[in-house]
Amino acid sequence: MDKRNRLAGKKAIVTGGSRGIGLAITRTLMECGVDVAICGRNEESLRQAVGELSRQVRGEGKGKIVGHTCDVTDIEQVRKFFTYVDDTLGSLDILVNNAGIGVFRSVADLSPEEWRVTLDTNLTSVYLFCHLAMERFRSGRGGFIVNISSLAGRNAFAGGAAYNASKFGLNGFSEALMLDHRGDNVRVCSVMPGSVSTEFSGTHGVAEWKIQPEDVAEVVRMVLEMPERTMVSRVEIRPSKPGKS
Ligand SMILES: NC(=O)c1ccc[n+]([C@@H]2O[C@H](COP(=O)([O-])OP(=O)(O)OC[C@H]3O[C@@H](n4cnc5c(N)ncnc54)[C@H](OP(=O)(O)O)[C@@H]3O)[C@@H](O)[C@H]2O)c1
Repeated sequence: MDKRNRLAGKKAIVTGGSRGIGLAITRTLMECGVDVAICGRNEESLRQAVGELSRQVRGEGKGKIVGHTCDVTDIEQVRKFFTYVDDTLGSLDILVNNAGIGVFRSVADLSPEEWRVTLDTNLTSVYLFCHLAMERFRSGRGGFIVNISSLAGRNAFAGGAAYNASKFGLNGFSEALMLDHRGDNVRVCSVMPGSVSTEFSGTHGVAEWKIQPEDVAEVVRMVLEMPERTMVSRVEIRPSKPGKS
């Protein structure tokens, strides 16, 4: 059996699907026949992503794409986004919590607001999306949650206090979530990349030596395509030859 048939017809949310890793994951899922709803804060980049993907990925067996603005740190906007997904996709099988920000400063220089927004975006929003997704999964056939964490969720570094705390927290959250709900037919995977070639805030941007967003998307596809009896619960991804920036 073509393994891609395992994903065909499924419905997914990818947070932060308008660029970088989220855009690549969305494209790969659509290639596998998954209908995807993406969100981001910036309306124009969301519109561009939806337009680009619907032109690039089309035809028999391909998934469709819809998008709506949503700041994942705002509970009301997140609730409205789920209503939008219910209305446009009808059901939910896969949640990819990808939206994230990086603020890299020493604790002395880090403002309370920078701490709050980093934790709200990278950790608290993931709880909220999982909480609302579980309502849909439990009333149906179960589901799959992929949390895009980071090697920074395992290795602390100077200037990483807020980002490290958010990603260490995310790894702990993902494991507890998995233990809470695997009996509900819900699988959970924490994907932990090292440096990825995107314009991620606070990093040095794109570079050839880095992991490419498409490589992370390929890992997510492989994890989702495992037979239902098996759950890949954590994956670390590294550049083979780390560069300098
Ligand atoms: N790049 C790396 O080296 C790297 C390494 C390991 C892990 N990661 C993780 O991978 C994930 C994606 O990173 P990336 O490199 O693809 O970053 P990116 O290129 O900056 O993309 C981030 C995406 O998240 C969205 N986003 C950010 N804050 C949001 C909010 N409050 N509400 C809704 N959407 C929001 C952005 O859209 P808007 O700006 O329009 O909201 C954008 O679509 C993050 O969780 C990051 O921590 C990245």
